[in-house]
Amino acid sequence: MHIHELDTPVLTVELDALEKNLDRYQRYFSEHGIGLRPHIKTHKTLAIAHMQMRRGAIGLTCQKVGEAEVMVHGGINGDILIPYNIIGQAKLERLCALAHHCERLTVAADSEYTVRGLSGAAAAAGVTLGVLIEIETGENRTGLTPQQAADLGQLIHKLPGLELRGIMGFPTAPAIRPLIQETLDLFDRHGLPHPVVSGGSTRHALQAHEIPELTEYRIGEYPVGGYGHLLAGRHTVEQCALRVIATVVSRPVDGRAILDCGSKTLSASILQTDHGPSIGYIVEYPDARFYGYSEEHGHVDVSACAQKPQIGERVQVLPVHPCPCVNEHDELIAVRGGQVEAVWPILARGKIR
Ligand SMILES: Cc1ncc(COP(=O)(O)O)c(C=O)c1O
Repeated sequence: MHIHELDTPVLTVELDALEKNLDRYQRYFSEHGIGLRPHIKTHKTLAIAHMQMRRGAIGLTCQKVGEAEVMVHGGINGDILIPYNIIGQAKLERLCALAHHCERLTVAADSEYTVRGLSGAAAAAGVTLGVLIEIETGENRTGLTPQQAADLGQLIHKLPGLELRGIMGFPTAPAIRPLIQETLDLFDRHGLPHPVVSGGSTRHALQAHEIPELTEYRIGEYPVGGYGHLLAGRHTVEQCALRVIATVVSRPVDGRAILDCGSKTLSASILQTDHGPSIGYIVEYPDARFYGYSEEHGHVDVSACAQKPQIGERVQVLPVHPCPCVNEHDELIAVRGGQVEAVWPILARGKIR
């Protein structure tokens, strides 16, 4: 089937671009001796995860237990990292059950509360859970100071059912190297193991070698890019593999085009551009600007376009943020040379628990 025959709005991925991105980043990490542990929260799709593993990934990163369940039961049952504080009996039971189905399971923790919960559940289930202590590296989100991390490390080291495996951070710009060094020095002083030092974020991925302490790296968006990566120069338009095909459904005034893709198709993620906030980039009309959206409408200012799109015309839109955009869809249509090559169910969609 040709993509012109697909009903819109529809989420597609350009396979040539996807494969080149997977190769490009895998080559970089292999050349620098850093393990690539792709984060599947972006594509949420087994087919792409298998492509990443076949290229040499050391294992997967899954943000939630539910995402990990999809991947492990879908045949990727080697080495899984969930870089998240797992709290509460319901999730802990699922986590320990999952540990029986994969070779190695590691989670993140940044509190005594989390590690005592993990330890109790792991000991009761008779499994071993690996733990990385998260350090705060600039997101003002989760994560500890180096001293707090070393203190928590000593507790983890003593608790049953747990194996201290090292540290992680997000994001890991080269400038945070001293924080990592300070944490590892403290670990060494207390005789704490740190075989894993895990960095992450597509933004800083190709600078990972500037932190030689990193043993592995988590990235999600690199296979598909997005408008943010395009503006930052990390991906060209051609390298932005994830595209929503949309139709112009209304041209009520000369400078306005309304598309059949709004926040329920592209997601409500907004990028601040020189022209104001935007939810996407229209490949065929680089001078067009999204000036707003509703759930099912994309509001586009086409006054700067020399030639303007007409009602019924189809355009390709790069979402701002691929991860929530993919989360809005049941299927990802894999395309090569304008032809549909595969239809992939987005099985880890909505797995927020
Ligand atoms: C803990 C963690 N690691 C890795 C990543 C991947 O980063 P990116 O989406 O920039 O590829 C994320 C993204 O949110 C994350 O939260």
